[in-house]
Amino acid sequence: MASPELRTSPDDITAAALASFDGAEDERLRELMLALTRHLHDFAREVGLTQEEWEAAMEALADSGRITNESRSEFILWSDTLGLSMLVDAIAHPKPPGATESTVVGPFWSPNAPRREYGDAIFDQAAGEPTLFHGRVLDLDGEPIAGAELDVWQNDADELYAVQRAEGPDDHLRGRFLTREDGSYAFVGVRPVVYPIPTDGPAGRMLGATGRHPWRPAHVHMIVTAPGYERLTTHFFDAETDYLDSDAVFAVKPSLVREFVRRSADDPARPAMVAGDWWSCEIDIVLPPSSP
Ligand code: BEZ
Ligand code: FE
Repeated sequence: MASPELRTSPDDITAAALASFDGAEDERLRELMLALTRHLHDFAREVGLTQEEWEAAMEALADSGRITNESRSEFILWSDTLGLSMLVDAIAHPKPPGATESTVVGPFWSPNAPRREYGDAIFDQAAGEPTLFHGRVLDLDGEPIAGAELDVWQNDADELYAVQRAEGPDDHLRGRFLTREDGSYAFVGVRPVVYPIPTDGPAGRMLGATGRHPWRPAHVHMIVTAPGYERLTTHFFDAETDYLDSDAVFAVKPSLVREFVRRSADDPARPAMVAGDWWSCEIDIVLPPSSP
């Protein structure tokens, strides 16, 4: 039988839910659950959440689970499209002045990209316009970092990353490079193109229902690591791409925008594997030391 003292006003319900964590031994877990519960309850109160809206939200979460698999996380897509991924990244990686800024990793990275040599192409055959990416990895004083690893991946002219293709080589447009003594690296990829994030799930339906578009500006991804330095996960954006000011996942930072320079077939710097006109894109990367 219910106790006569049981109070059930909205505020009582919130208080009871918060108090239920009193016994949590893990302090951090307790802090997280208390704040999450408080904010969720405040949200419901603020908007006057209806039963139907709550049911629709539960259904969207269930649908997100159903469409999620090893290579596709709808929950990360929710986080990306709500700006949460970029917020968590910004909180986790405050960068000192001069250091290259980070941005989201996205769903299309996969481990064990092939190790390639300075100047190699990251494709056997690509549809996109060949582009020489080159630059140096430096420390905050401008000194070269030798032996830094760049793990790069990008999409082709068909908008797709290798992991999105049912057929075709797994290593298409991805590779790992080590910097030389002077901190330099170079590889031949293609000029990236704009692409829509997956729209066949509930996060995509949210974009449609709220009048948002799913497009991302053209970019190349990199994870840069070197012993003694902070790991950097970022991408670099084509200065001429569409959607720089309306990225569906809010990942653009002005410092990550780079120019692509048109180069002619008779340019003496043309990479050997390139026929015809090509592009070049210079990207220097600055890593802060890792904290002790
Ligand atoms: C990407 O850049 O690959 C990406 C990031 C977030 C969501 C979808 C794609
Ligand atoms: Fe991407």
